[in-house]
Amino acid sequence: SSPRVRLPQRSERRSSALKLQTKERFFPMAEVIIVPGREAGGKLVASEIARRIRATPDLVLGLATGSTPLPVYQALVPALAGVDLSTVRGFALDEYVGLDPAHPQSYRSVITREVVEPLGLDPARIRVPDGRLDGVAHAGEIYEAAIMDAGGIALQILGIGTDGHIGFNEPGSSFASRTRVKTLTEQTRTDNARFFASPDEVPMHCITQGLGTILEADHLVLLAFGSSKAAALAAAVEGPLSASVPGSAIQLHPHVTVVVDEDAAAELARAEYYRYAYANKPDWQGL
Ligand code: GLP
Repeated sequence: SSPRVRLPQRSERRSSALKLQTKERFFPMAEVIIVPGREAGGKLVASEIARRIRATPDLVLGLATGSTPLPVYQALVPALAGVDLSTVRGFALDEYVGLDPAHPQSYRSVITREVVEPLGLDPARIRVPDGRLDGVAHAGEIYEAAIMDAGGIALQILGIGTDGHIGFNEPGSSFASRTRVKTLTEQTRTDNARFFASPDEVPMHCITQGLGTILEADHLVLLAFGSSKAAALAAAVEGPLSASVPGSAIQLHPHVTVVVDEDAAAELARAEYYRYAYANKPDWQGL
């Protein structure tokens, strides 16, 4: 006869909740890999993506913009040479609102230039949230439906903002948030001004996958390079779960790989453990 499932009594539930708070080993934790530099990080992530695409030719990738993932996209070109990519699908994390999609800094343009064209992907299979003013109120729901229709995102690439944002989920974003319009912080607008002719040109609003959307991807790969990311990265990986640090939402996900260079790793309290764990990583375990 099959074993009976006995639901825990109320007192037992309470004590196991206490254990969860006090015993770190009960938490699934991100794997943190400290690499010598951007290029090494890009190659490592690209080789995992290439492995996944070889196994699943219609893989659904979650694509990040910003400068951080560029070494991944560059390393993907040689890693995928000769592989048929005609069925690969992709969803960008976010887009500026009110910026002409043809503007060179729209995320549609960035994804086309940095990912679609170099890899020769089918542009019809790569979606970016629609940030055009006309219809932006419903663009979030439409995007969520498209992700669901594709069967969800298999591997989501993430960067992190200096204020701890992932996608464009600024501090205060709900862990349950879905794709929606957000107002950018002044800090993010200042950080991103380098891509525009003047800081005033940086849009005030964006449309971004929510933290709840991002948490539904099967595998999150968060990259961070450079000392400007050290504080935000440490808060996201090791700090308390908090909507004030949107990147800390990754701690709720059972499969996260964090790839950082030495500078971005500088404020991690458990850096030695991460190095030790990676040095002793079982051969059978992929990223
Ligand atoms: C940008 C993007 C994020 C990105 C982050 C860091 O504004 N919306 O997806 O991860 O901010 O950008 P960068 O990689 O250029 O430092």
